[in-house]
Amino acid sequence: MTTTITLTGAGGQIGYALLFRIAAGDLLGPDEKVRLRLLEIPQGLGAAEGAALELQDGAFGLLEHVEVTDDPAVGFDGCDLALLVGARPRGPGMERGDLLAANAGIFGPQGAAIAAHASSDVRVTVVGNPANTNALIAAASADGVPAERFSALTRLDENRARAQLAQTLAVPVDTVRRVPIWGNHSATQFPDVTYATVGGRPVTDALEAIVGDVPTWLDETFIPRVAKRGAEIIQVRGSSSVASAANATIEHVRDWVRGTDDWTSAAVVSYGEYGVPEGLISSFPVRSVDGEWRIVEGLEISDRARARIDASVAELVEERDAVRALGML
Ligand code: NAD
Ligand code: LMR
Repeated sequence: MTTTITLTGAGGQIGYALLFRIAAGDLLGPDEKVRLRLLEIPQGLGAAEGAALELQDGAFGLLEHVEVTDDPAVGFDGCDLALLVGARPRGPGMERGDLLAANAGIFGPQGAAIAAHASSDVRVTVVGNPANTNALIAAASADGVPAERFSALTRLDENRARAQLAQTLAVPVDTVRRVPIWGNHSATQFPDVTYATVGGRPVTDALEAIVGDVPTWLDETFIPRVAKRGAEIIQVRGSSSVASAANATIEHVRDWVRGTDDWTSAAVVSYGEYGVPEGLISSFPVRSVDGEWRIVEGLEISDRARARIDASVAELVEERDAVRALGML
């Protein structure tokens, strides 16, 4: 079998970190051949073409073909998996919302091109920020493609949350499970430890022995650290996260295609679950079953959690309304 993967922003930082892992089989496994379509804007074509030359020099057995283009009709032709990474990243001092207008103009036309040219069962993952709202714009512009085929990346936030907990508890990170992200991929996001476990026991019990007052530690240390980690990376590195974002993208898409055995996080379209207004692309605890994201339902939500989810969802509503006011939705 061969899967056609379209990567936008293929000449950028995350693109460069993703391409070689995809070609090496990290995304779809060692038996699935891949055809890559690298979509860029004219200014980015040279970098994407350079990456294509290096892909050739990697002599990857799974890589059947690489095409570099600045034409969305060519870029999305026959696309099974679209990774929408190409966007303008934020710099020091900017919030992700500042990118709304700059990036809204990219995702509408790309959604339309996906509808016109991609495979009928295309799955689209949005990484470019503001990721939730960009996914909303792309989905709204993709006539005939079900909104469930669009999701936005919050796996990086979940990984950050699990890593912070593992470090605090001095345990291996893969023993920390069920730490969903709710809401927006932004500083309002809610990394939720209510149902989290470490080695099978509640994380909150394990935390109590170390941090004492768990609610205060969550409010003053954990949640801000995770929610502002993107800004911390920008400040320390001088530019936004790259390899960790590429890694999370690989994990998100791999889980979507192959399924999960536990919860993870993804921003997916709401049908009103947990009071999130219908149509918004919001992060939820999800499983992947038969190639589809399924929101984990029936969880009890405390008042504290409710307030945090509502605040992040309110920001998503504001973003949606701002894009509507720009005439882009
Ligand atoms: P980058 O500037 O290195 O690369 C972006 C690339 O996109 C550039 O090569 C640019 O030419 C290209 N591009 C711009 N408009 C395009 C278009 N219309 N079509 C195709 N390509 C286009 O940026 P980066 O560091 O690779 O980051 C990419 C995006 O990912 C940013 O929006 C960043 O904020 C976001 N990001 C998201 C997460 C997340 O967890 N969701 C994490 C990290 C970064
Ligand atoms: C991140 O979370 O690292 C990215 O969304 C980049 C950013 O702007 O924070």
